[in-house]
Amino acid sequence: MNYLIGIDLGTSSTKTVLFNENGDVIATAGKDYPLYTPNNGWAEQKPEDWRDAALETIASVVKESGVNADDIKGLGISGQMHGLVMLDGDGEVIRPSIIWCDQRTGKECEEITEKVGAKRLVEITANPAMTGFTASKILWVRNNEPENYAKCRHILLPKDYVRYILTGEFATEVSDASGMQLLDVPARKWSDEVLDKLGIDKSLLAKVYESPEVTGTILPEIAEKTGLSTSTVVVGGAGDNAAAAVGTGVVEDGKAFTTIGTSGVVYAHSSNISIDPQGRVHTFCCAVPGAWHVMGVTQAAGYSLSWYLDNMGEGYKHEAEEKGCGVFELINQDVEKTPIGANRLLYLPYLNGERTPHLDPDCRGVFFGLSSMHTKADIARAVMEGISYSLKDCRDILEEMGVKADDMMACGGGAKNAVQRQMMADMFGCDVNTVTATEGPALGVAILAGVGAGIYPSVEEACRKMIHKDPAKECKPDMANNAQYNKFHKIYKNLYGCLKEQYKEIAKL
Ligand code: XUL
Repeated sequence: MNYLIGIDLGTSSTKTVLFNENGDVIATAGKDYPLYTPNNGWAEQKPEDWRDAALETIASVVKESGVNADDIKGLGISGQMHGLVMLDGDGEVIRPSIIWCDQRTGKECEEITEKVGAKRLVEITANPAMTGFTASKILWVRNNEPENYAKCRHILLPKDYVRYILTGEFATEVSDASGMQLLDVPARKWSDEVLDKLGIDKSLLAKVYESPEVTGTILPEIAEKTGLSTSTVVVGGAGDNAAAAVGTGVVEDGKAFTTIGTSGVVYAHSSNISIDPQGRVHTFCCAVPGAWHVMGVTQAAGYSLSWYLDNMGEGYKHEAEEKGCGVFELINQDVEKTPIGANRLLYLPYLNGERTPHLDPDCRGVFFGLSSMHTKADIARAVMEGISYSLKDCRDILEEMGVKADDMMACGGGAKNAVQRQMMADMFGCDVNTVTATEGPALGVAILAGVGAGIYPSVEEACRKMIHKDPAKECKPDMANNAQYNKFHKIYKNLYGCLKEQYKEIAKL
């Protein structure tokens, strides 16, 4: 039997899974690490923590499974996107990584837009300048820490740093490289024009591969440390969302997924490149060679619910403790008893500003329509509906662009909630399903590794064989509910327009 390893380098932990070639989980291991916020709006992590977590968890799954190292044919890495790792000429880390959710680079985004031109930037990189993306982080280091910039010889993304540790190769792949804002996304190669205009030396960047391509093999000292074989191939891998797409079988036109984690995503596969000229959704290369994906992002999806629970959910927490049940069991019971529209209460989930559809760092959360009749059940329902309206905004833009998102999978923590899944099916007016495999991004990159190692003929073929819908969790839309939701969604959409200027005013105070 052949085996494959998928590593998912997340923001809170790294999870490594060893699968057999049928996609069955044989062993898993995880390791947490901290996130540092040295200043308001900053977010950094130590690449050395990612390295240690990857090496420890690989060693652990190899040992626990008892599988012969030579039978582990391939390894793939998925990772949090956009983070900046800078290495010196000896391959040593120069400074902590500035990661995806860091917001310090507003000025550098203006610099990028001015130097490249707003229209040209979207034409080449498929996205407007974003504080989260890597290019603005590179310019920030150049502008603020010139001594670190002068030492820098290699720029890598988080998962590509782990690849460098495992293989000694400086390599990346198209899906993650798309989030650097230096890639010509339609042409799937570094953009000489953007690099020239920003004055970034191309030799600092890694070689770009397609996601299932082999980028190297395991170094002898790493084989020794982890129990892997030097013949195991390491493929390109993918950014976390592109990897989750493969892990949920979203690799063909019409297929899409929505995920509710801390943030929320609506992601659709597209075999033709499709760019929103207003930059409200991201267009990136996907892990299927020659294809792209379009993705809308809600900044505070699951985070809205955890914020509600932490600040207003004491009652639910106590009751759950007393009854010995889960908090979400109680919330779901209340939400199901409350009518659509939460008795005319709307929630805008902009706790941390918003990406899709507003691209507005200043907007903030709102409860609209609060009345003395409202209870914690109405508020809970309004929060869940607000998250779903925001994801519907993402899906509406995809539709407007002609990108089909009818065959919808739900994944991530929120997908486990049947009430939330049914709410999305009713709101979107389409089926919302889940897959039987729950390993998402780790399975996605293990599949890519299987393609690179020659076990599967293509990503699409592997997904057709290995990824199956879970029939027990199918959610069909109720179109009467859909009509009800549409009425409230119309008001939800109008609220941002009414508040836009006020958000700016209050941010100045
Ligand atoms: C994608 C994005 C997140 C990060 C962290 O644009 O910012 O999905 O990759 O998970």
